[in-house]
Amino acid sequence: MNTVKTVRELRAAVARARGEGKRIAFVPTMGNLHSGHAALVTKAAQRADFVVASIFVNPLQFGANEDLDKYPRTLAADQQRLLDAGCHLLFAPTVQEMYPDGMAVQTRVSVPQLSEGLCGASRPGHFEGVATVVSKLFNMVQPDLAVFGEKDYQQLAVIRAMVRDLNMPIQIIGEPTVRAEDGLALSSRNGYLTPEQRTTAPVVYRTLRQIADALGRGQVDFDALIEQGKADLVAAGLRPDYLEVRHAVNLRPATFGDRDLVILVAAYLGNTRLIDNLYLHLDEKTA
Ligand code: PAF
Repeated sequence: MNTVKTVRELRAAVARARGEGKRIAFVPTMGNLHSGHAALVTKAAQRADFVVASIFVNPLQFGANEDLDKYPRTLAADQQRLLDAGCHLLFAPTVQEMYPDGMAVQTRVSVPQLSEGLCGASRPGHFEGVATVVSKLFNMVQPDLAVFGEKDYQQLAVIRAMVRDLNMPIQIIGEPTVRAEDGLALSSRNGYLTPEQRTTAPVVYRTLRQIADALGRGQVDFDALIEQGKADLVAAGLRPDYLEVRHAVNLRPATFGDRDLVILVAAYLGNTRLIDNLYLHLDEKTA
């Protein structure tokens, strides 16, 4: 696996692979890779002949008080993980390479509506930063397909909408969340948790499961379920940012009769913001 740092080298390597008739897959990441990322690369390798991954901690998607500076940078370990998972080329650009004229004058890509609410409410500008960097990376790599984790559910919805709206000829594939044995969704930010917080953290997934089970049993009072779920998070020592039941495709607040639902949560454990979600299809009996 080669690592390149410039757009020029990236384009040359991808052009060589294309010249050999290869189908190109792309997995964008911010590094500090775990088995969830490895699953994205494995999926990419199953669907294409040449897998490109990127590692770029994108300043444009971090708010002023967020963890940009302390976001873990672990390039050597990441390279090994990517190689093991079947990646052929790593693009690891500098901020200067990605934003040569600075970020203030950078053209932005914004996906209204889907970017509002949920994580967009407490992270203003976040999804604009994500959509902008992902469209830049897509233009640099020009892949046939790209793989994203379903853990960042709203991000995946924003990217699907961007690709559709801007007619980008790229197939977007969502890969199910990888969880620890106790249910905690794998995330680079789990590394911020103290051992004690780590034992508490699975309450996030348990809360989602409890709401999903109640909905599956035919419970229709969304508000009561959400209030109970928030109370459970607070009782465990977390500070819920949001806990909501939404329509799984358009992310509008769920209404009675919706069958494809997603329950989404963000909650602080100490200073660490954990997010998770659970998709749920209600059959005719329960909807
Ligand atoms: O999900 C992430 O790691 C990032 O938001 C992404 C998609 C790599 C864009 O910076």
